[in-house]
Amino acid sequence: MAQTGSMGGTRHLAADAAGLAEAARLLREGALVAFPTETVYGLGADAARAEAVAGIYAAKSRPRFNPLIAHLPDTAAARAQGAFDAAAERLAAAFWPGPLTLVVPVGPGCTVCDLARASLDSVALRVPAAPVARALLAAVGRPVAAPSANRSGRISPTRADHVAADLDGRIAAILDGGPTDVGLESTIVACLPGAPLRLLRPGGVPREAIEAVLGTPLGTDMHAGARPVAPGQLASHYAPRARVRLDAETIWPGEAALVFAGARPPGLDRALAVAELSGDGDLHEAAANLFAALRTLDASGAAMIAVSPIPPAGLGEAIRDRLARAAAERP
Ligand code: TXA
Ligand code: MG
Repeated sequence: MAQTGSMGGTRHLAADAAGLAEAARLLREGALVAFPTETVYGLGADAARAEAVAGIYAAKSRPRFNPLIAHLPDTAAARAQGAFDAAAERLAAAFWPGPLTLVVPVGPGCTVCDLARASLDSVALRVPAAPVARALLAAVGRPVAAPSANRSGRISPTRADHVAADLDGRIAAILDGGPTDVGLESTIVACLPGAPLRLLRPGGVPREAIEAVLGTPLGTDMHAGARPVAPGQLASHYAPRARVRLDAETIWPGEAALVFAGARPPGLDRALAVAELSGDGDLHEAAANLFAALRTLDASGAAMIAVSPIPPAGLGEAIRDRLARAAAERP
């Protein structure tokens, strides 16, 4: 039995053969289905259908039409959508399937609709590694546009119940594949003609691993495609959420604490809530725990989440990026 339950019209599907088949059928019909990737849960829609893609923005209450990532089951399917230069081919060979997104020029056979690309002449392509995602994408047989399956401005979901908390009643189904492995979104690299290779977003593949494959440093352009958040543009139901303070060496009264690598800062005993990213300083474990820990600490009602120092190398760059955004993305 694929269906494990339903709430507010949203069906909760188990990630078995029947659940996958039903999720694929719904996506092909133009419905919205949340599904697990190895990074975070995505809110999927048929990338070729503008009305389905418009549903993503509506369900997330996204204030703007950002370009979305199109998900494919394998590199061959990705090549059918975009133009891969030598660097893009090298990165695809090294990191796909996996938590890397490539922004490449639109190819002649591209079926990703204008709305999903925000009318750009480039397209963001990703071949996820999670077996549930790959099986689903193969069954759908078309690119699936999928941003993270949270309401706009909230924390990205790493478990099916995180998705349900934000989107139950707003989407057709949630495919439950358990907790995600990586825990934060894919790394985005732009491979576009006439411009140096650029890191658009740090993520699940560390910058150093990409630079090692390319044999050259990556430029950084974190503002490309970034959403300028104007006060008043955000939907009125934007959730109150704790602020985030990075590199905290002391926990002040009234704060919640997010600690790393065994840190025991002064004041920790007074913290309203404490979560540990990784006791022994493992950045992979820390990334996997990050968003669930932020949800837990936010639920404590603390106005501020104080975060122990996290080194900026490897996955630390992406972890620090997400924490900085959590601090900044407020109306
Ligand atoms: O791990 C992930 O990447 C997750 C899972 C669900 O796969 N997806 C995800 O999608 O994070 P989304 O829509 O939240 O992120 C899309 C990012 C945005 O920062 C957007 O600006 C950038 O990709 N993007 C998409 N198309 C682009 C383009 N043509 N040029 C530059 N940036 C682009
Ligand atoms: Mg997101």
